[in-house]
Amino acid sequence: MDYFNYQQDGQLWAEDIVLTDLAERYGTPLYVYSRATLERHWNAFDQAVANHPHLICYAVKANSNIGVLNVLARLGSGFDIVSQGELERVIAAGGDPAKVVFSGVGKTAAEMKRALELGIKCFNVESEPELERLNEVAGELGKVAPVSLRINPDVDAKTHPYISTGLRDNKFGIVFDRAPEVYRLAQSLPNLKVTGMDCHIGSQLTDIEPFIDATDRLLALIDTLKAEGIEIEHLDVGGGLGVTYSDEQPPQPSDYATELLARLKDHPELELVFEPGRAIAANAGVMLTRIEYLKHTEHKNFAIVDAAMNDLIRPTLYQAWQDIVPVCPREGEKQTYDFVGPICETGDFIGKERTLCLEPGDLLAVRSAGAYGFVMASNYNTRTRAAEIMVDGQDAYVVRERETLEQLWQSEHLLPE
Ligand code: LLP
Repeated sequence: MDYFNYQQDGQLWAEDIVLTDLAERYGTPLYVYSRATLERHWNAFDQAVANHPHLICYAVKANSNIGVLNVLARLGSGFDIVSQGELERVIAAGGDPAKVVFSGVGKTAAEMKRALELGIKCFNVESEPELERLNEVAGELGKVAPVSLRINPDVDAKTHPYISTGLRDNKFGIVFDRAPEVYRLAQSLPNLKVTGMDCHIGSQLTDIEPFIDATDRLLALIDTLKAEGIEIEHLDVGGGLGVTYSDEQPPQPSDYATELLARLKDHPELELVFEPGRAIAANAGVMLTRIEYLKHTEHKNFAIVDAAMNDLIRPTLYQAWQDIVPVCPREGEKQTYDFVGPICETGDFIGKERTLCLEPGDLLAVRSAGAYGFVMASNYNTRTRAAEIMVDGQDAYVVRERETLEQLWQSEHLLPE
């Protein structure tokens, strides 16, 4: 559930602010987030596992605006990061480094150093060479690095191939059968301390089964390791819980937690770590865009809007479907439109074949745009990136200003005369 609703005036609101006001004040395209929705989604995870030791590490990549991170940090959230940039954002947002887990296959020595200095909770290590490098960097600093190994449980998450990560052929994690051997290596390295086990099998999962299959495999592995004297203190089940974009019915965090906790009966001390991104942020945001032109042709109708694939690339990149709704719906004859942007590519579309009654100048909201929206935006076609607004009840805060054209080439240079 989110706080973007049509009110009695027939218009779409974000909490207690009508979206037309925000579009007039700040222009379009515009990302608008709802603080109450972010908090509600985060609390749903937290409460679902309330009776078991746990940490919710929001996946920063889903929406890394420091205003968003700050809202979650105030709730006591941890963070899942994949770069030094994300780590610095967490710090800038008031996040606690001791609640940070560091994922990703390509951590550089400099990134490891910074994370060690700040004292993060854990490095989610994805390969043996990474273990060796981390051991070396920690040694140079006279520190001991807490490590978890990302295990690839070889389960099919049944999601889009680009966002499925738990299969043997993916670049991610350590092959399940080799896990004990790699744990032994980690245990033997002097500047590492084995503390956890993690996995992440994919994103936008709408079925609980692959999560549970993966957890069962990891719990068995934890028992095997224990018999060898390798003690795992936390199990990080990754992110991946899906959201409703159209009519998907993903499990609720509480359904997921119930299944997980049933399996953790014999492991009451094992801390559960979650890395949800989309489930917290996606439906806590919309992207507002205005219709520039309606173009009717013999074969197709196009609504040419002022947002493009550089603002929201998910439809182009994954053929992802996101709902497009008028902020002030009109009565009248509906027509079927493709919603396209001004970028010079056939792939520049926000949605296809939507049937609506529209006029040029109408304001539209692209729903579920809070995750993997602004963060994947680019300046293609020398377009400035949109502003981002956080709504909190009746208040709206600019959490990122619209880029200016000058900013786009301020670090470019002409050749000498
Ligand atoms: N943890 C790890 C290690 C991950 O790789 C990811 C996402 C997450 C957590 C968070 O997953 P979530 O809860 O958001 O599903 N750009 C794509 C999604 C890429 C997800 C990559 N990894 C999209 O727009 O659908």
